Amino acid sequence: MVHVMPDRNGAVATTDKPTYLGLLNAIALAESRAHRYLMAWAESTGDADVRQVLRTVAWREGEHGMAFAKRINELGFELRDKPDPRSEAQMELASSKLSDLEKLEKLGLDRLETDVLSGFDTVFKDHSIDIRTGELLGRYIAEEHDSARLLRTCCQTLRDRSSGKGRKTVSRAAGKAPADATSRRRSRVS
Ligand SMILES: [Fe+2]
Repeated sequence: MVHVMPDRNGAVATTDKPTYLGLLNAIALAESRAHRYLMAWAESTGDADVRQVLRTVAWREGEHGMAFAKRINELGFELRDKPDPRSEAQMELASSKLSDLEKLEKLGLDRLETDVLSGFDTVFKDHSIDIRTGELLGRYIAEEHDSARLLRTCCQTLRDRSSGKGRKTVSRAAGKAPADATSRRRSRVS
């Protein structure tokens, strides 16, 4: 497919459809869906600490969805909606009466690093990725790993609590040095 619109954000002009356009589209859709189900779950949980973790991750997901849709537009294309058969089940599970621990485990949020994020390890083997999109992808992948640590830590705390050992409240520390306001807030309360 020939791409005639120039990049409106100063990236290298190209006349071809970027090889990574499908990746950007898939991320935009998945992140927006995750934002919706995590927000629905945050509204329904009775645990204030779990709610804080869910909202932190949900806002990140929502911002990723918008940022990738925006980037697709800047590259001269538009986001293409594609139905995801898992989406309805995820929303149903997230808004259900199951415990927070059951939801985390059933949604696979305790093992995102191995099951999902490892797939991004080879993204930059595509050397045609333009600078601006590369920045966005790099920041996105780092933030996803931090969110995965947050959710895994939350899950472990809930497991410890249900087995009668460990902390009574969910730690929001993701096990790394505070680097921004979110991390500092986590450190204060953990
Ligand atoms: Fe995500």
